Amino acid sequence: MAVQINAVVITVSDACAAGERDDASGAALVELLAEAGAKIVAREVVNDDLAPLTHLLRAYAERADVNLIVTTGGTGLSPRDNTPEATRAVIEREAPGFAEAMRAETLRQTPTAMLSRGLCGVRAGTLIINLPGAPKAVRECFAVIRPVIGHAITLLVGHTHEEAKQA
Ligand code: MTE
Repeated sequence: MAVQINAVVITVSDACAAGERDDASGAALVELLAEAGAKIVAREVVNDDLAPLTHLLRAYAERADVNLIVTTGGTGLSPRDNTPEATRAVIEREAPGFAEAMRAETLRQTPTAMLSRGLCGVRAGTLIINLPGAPKAVRECFAVIRPVIGHAITLLVGHTHEEAKQA
């Protein structure tokens, strides 16, 4: 039973929000999600401020027409990197396997993969996934989770594991 993936893409970057850098990562994510059959409900570019980002994540997670939020950026160690903190404030349940898999798998080619603190979890039936900010990182990490996203969303909306396997 295939469930429609209704996705929001959020780029978290001071430079992109200020218009100083093109949002190549958000564009890559939109392309990758569309290729995976997702409908893009909205795309946002915001700065790294914690409180507005938390508010935005909560608002989209609680929308009935959204079941996936993918963020890119703000996951590193610099003082302005707040995306994991905003995500942790919003999620009801963590889904650590996604982040574990992305780091473990991409670490094989990219040692700096260990610098991302990105996490993943669920609020109000919406899966929230943090990806790192670079377009290359987006492509590497998305390739890891791509085969499982449809299955995850199908389970989230209440279908059984057997139904999800057919998604
Ligand atoms: N993961 C993968 N797969 N590929 C990458 O190139 N870049 C790393 C890391 N994760 C990278 C990656 C780097 S250099 C940083 S600083 C962190 O993600 C955090 O990036 P962010 O702050 O833009 O989210």
